[in-house]
Amino acid sequence: MLYLLDTANVEEIKRAFDLYPMSGVTTNPTIISKEKRSFLEILKEIRAAIGEDKMLHVQSISTKVEEIVKEAEYLKETIGGNFYIKIPVIPEGIKAMKILKAKGMNITATAIFTADQALMAARAGADFVAPYVNRIDNISGNGVGVVEEIVHLFDIYAIDSKVLAASFKNVQQVHDVSLAGAQSITVGSEIMDGLLSHPLTEWSVDQFTKDWSGVYGEGKVAYNSK
Ligand code: G3P
Repeated sequence: MLYLLDTANVEEIKRAFDLYPMSGVTTNPTIISKEKRSFLEILKEIRAAIGEDKMLHVQSISTKVEEIVKEAEYLKETIGGNFYIKIPVIPEGIKAMKILKAKGMNITATAIFTADQALMAARAGADFVAPYVNRIDNISGNGVGVVEEIVHLFDIYAIDSKVLAASFKNVQQVHDVSLAGAQSITVGSEIMDGLLSHPLTEWSVDQFTKDWSGVYGEGKVAYNSK
């Protein structure tokens, strides 16, 4: 499982990359707009915070082939490092994926709601496909079911593209797509924290600390205790 952070908030990114085994960051126009400042400045700060090797997935704004291609090349050039252009699975987007793949660009197909969209995007050259799990659930669909179908289809057709499951509202959805075989997820920092959090873990750690300091003293640890 690869963990990516779905945010453009640089402080959240720094914290998560410091604590957790993160593989990259994903953004989209909505996420970037929330920061209300120069988007290029934000993206450059994200790149500086995560380093050149971690993945940075940035979405094209345009819905026209030529413009998507131009945006992708501009963003890759300007932001640098391990860069992925995110392109929605509209017809013009699929054509742009074919063109950009031929030019050697890393591609993430996004705004995916069905397995057929994912299959076509993969055939057009997408390295990752991003099904929106919670948005599917919100329209009485089965987000995890769609992920399962994509994993199954990629298996049947021996397709190398990876599932980058996106749009989560809770930890259970993440757990379910992991079991369905999604190779990667992109989540907010609260879900990242939630994946680790358990009241009994916290209780156990508190108990260990209490028992230890009762005998060896407050603030004592392995290297300064006898
Ligand atoms: O990466 C796609 C994702 O940002 C959509 O998530 O929570 O807006 O449905 P959400």
